[in-house]
Amino acid sequence: MTDHGFTIPDFRYCIDQYAALVAPNIRDLFPILRYIPGLFGLAEWKEQAQLVRKEALKKGTQFLNVAKEQRAALDAGKSIEWESMLAKMLRDQRDNDDHTFSEHDMGHSAFHVVAASTSTSTAKFSVLLMVLAKYSDVQQKVREEVLEISGGAIPKATDIPSLKYTEAVWNEVHRWRPVAPQAIPHAPSQDDVYNGYRIPKGTAVIMNVWHIHHSEEDYEEPEEFIPERFLNHPFGMRPDKAHDGTQMEASGARITYDFGAGRRVCPGMHSTKQTFLLGLAKILWAFEILPLEGKNLDLSLKTRFVQEVALHPKSLDVSLKLKNGRTGKTIIGHYHQKYEDEAKVMGWENDLYR
Ligand code: HEM
Repeated sequence: MTDHGFTIPDFRYCIDQYAALVAPNIRDLFPILRYIPGLFGLAEWKEQAQLVRKEALKKGTQFLNVAKEQRAALDAGKSIEWESMLAKMLRDQRDNDDHTFSEHDMGHSAFHVVAASTSTSTAKFSVLLMVLAKYSDVQQKVREEVLEISGGAIPKATDIPSLKYTEAVWNEVHRWRPVAPQAIPHAPSQDDVYNGYRIPKGTAVIMNVWHIHHSEEDYEEPEEFIPERFLNHPFGMRPDKAHDGTQMEASGARITYDFGAGRRVCPGMHSTKQTFLLGLAKILWAFEILPLEGKNLDLSLKTRFVQEVALHPKSLDVSLKLKNGRTGKTIIGHYHQKYEDEAKVMGWENDLYR
């Protein structure tokens, strides 16, 4: 990507600007404000939106150009890692003479997937590591569970479904510090009625994820980080009649709204969970997660968090220390072994990515 002018800081800047525009705002509450012309500084956001659009399209073009190179290389029969999403779209378009997506659309899809997957994942994993560094008792419980299930060996993907406490910690991190406390506004594609309220087609609907997951009515001590709540109730809620888990499940309730909801719900939510739980289990097998020396870890929302694309801690104040009996050699050896397994599945040849 560097050959195409792509840099990570530049990309991050662009997605932060983009996120600021799509975050819930006053125009969602008073749509008439959207019609104020963007002249004489009256609606500065419109000028900003033009700039962000230009930048996002530029980044999309960079992705597309790389994909075109990959397409050409694949077509020429070169042995190459795997067919990327865009390279596949280019092939589909060519083979089916289908032009549903313009080049802008394709580039923008790539921009969107990378933007949506990276900031959210790093934000969430940072919170997870910081929480475990702060609450060493929780960290120890997760580690004990991991070691019990793996029999002391390095954890495997097949161990994940048995890690019930670890999963509860994962669910609690989503509830406690959602990456998008007000999600991303949606709009119904047809008129609707909900609880007696008429919602005309196109109305901005803001999902108050923060309130959903911090309501006293539903959660005991919602401000506290208590993973056990998810062991006592399938949705982590008060275990009473008003919160019947079976009924909630039948009504389609979600354990977490941190991934959004509806047809635009995060498509990465399941793979992320598997990847993170396995990654976390391996980290705990190998390391102690500690607060950075001299730091009393502050995880308060007001002082330590910042909202950009995702709500995330201002800095990652943790350090990893090798656990007794673990060596760098074992860890690198494990990495190489996993690389070989993955290379077989992905068809990587010539030590690609090694
Ligand atoms: C902990 C990690 C993640 C969190 C918390 C998260 C959260 C979200 C949220 C809140 C949305 C908006 C959903 C809505 O509008 O209702 C979203 C959308 C999206 N996410 Fe994720 N996400 C994560 C990881 C990922 C990963 C790893 C990928 C890709 C592999 C991904 C791909 C996407 C895409 C493509 C969208 C846009 C979907 C659309 O607008 O139709 N996300 N995500």
